[in-house]
Amino acid sequence: MFTQEKLTIAITKFNEKIQENREYLSELDTPIGDGDHGNNMARGMEAAMAAGITGDCSQQFKQLAMTLIGKVGGASGPLYGTAMMEMSKASKDSSDPVVILTAGIAGIEKRGRATLGEKTMLDLWIPTVEALKNQQLTAEKLNELVEATKDLLATKGRASYVGERSIGHIDPGAMSSKYFFEALLEAEVFTDD
Ligand SMILES: Nc1ncnc2c1ncn2[C@@H]1O[C@H](COP(=O)(O)OP(=O)(O)OP(=O)(O)O)[C@@H](O)[C@H]1O
Ligand SMILES: [Mg+2]
Repeated sequence: MFTQEKLTIAITKFNEKIQENREYLSELDTPIGDGDHGNNMARGMEAAMAAGITGDCSQQFKQLAMTLIGKVGGASGPLYGTAMMEMSKASKDSSDPVVILTAGIAGIEKRGRATLGEKTMLDLWIPTVEALKNQQLTAEKLNELVEATKDLLATKGRASYVGERSIGHIDPGAMSSKYFFEALLEAEVFTDD
């Protein structure tokens, strides 16, 4: 379940993972993008932590959303920001991770007009939430899902410009999303109490 304490821990862990992997995320974005994904996310999360994350889950998600929309350039800021904003709204009425994360997916889909299989962060979010519903979400499963983005052909975003050459590379937004779900796992958001 999402609780105020668990969410604060998860956001803190997400920031740590983004900062640690800043260069790696930008490297992933080099062959199929413009090499800025790590810098974009690191700048946004650094600003979010500096602003402070406080209050109940709805407030915490909203603060994160506002900072990511305001500070992150590129496609990923508005996409993550919209996901967090939808999760803020959903967490007013629920603390169920499936309900809240499903609202996040709807936000990304609406904002990015992408669907499953287009080599975007949705190829991490959608199957991850499916695995969660089936009680099969583990760190290993997350690794498998991010690896699986290698085989996909990009048809949305900057990676679509390289066409067939996008095949064989992990999607950077799927990798940063993996860190988000790892942080939720480690903060025990997916355990019952
Ligand atoms: N339409 C979309 N729907 C969902 N996710 C998307 C979409 N377009 C891009 N993405 C995700 O965003 C990631 C790229 O984020 P990044 O921060 O590098 O922005 P960018 O593509 O460089 O933006 P810009 O082109 O505005 O500079 C991709 O790896 C992908 O996961
Ligand atoms: Mg980029």
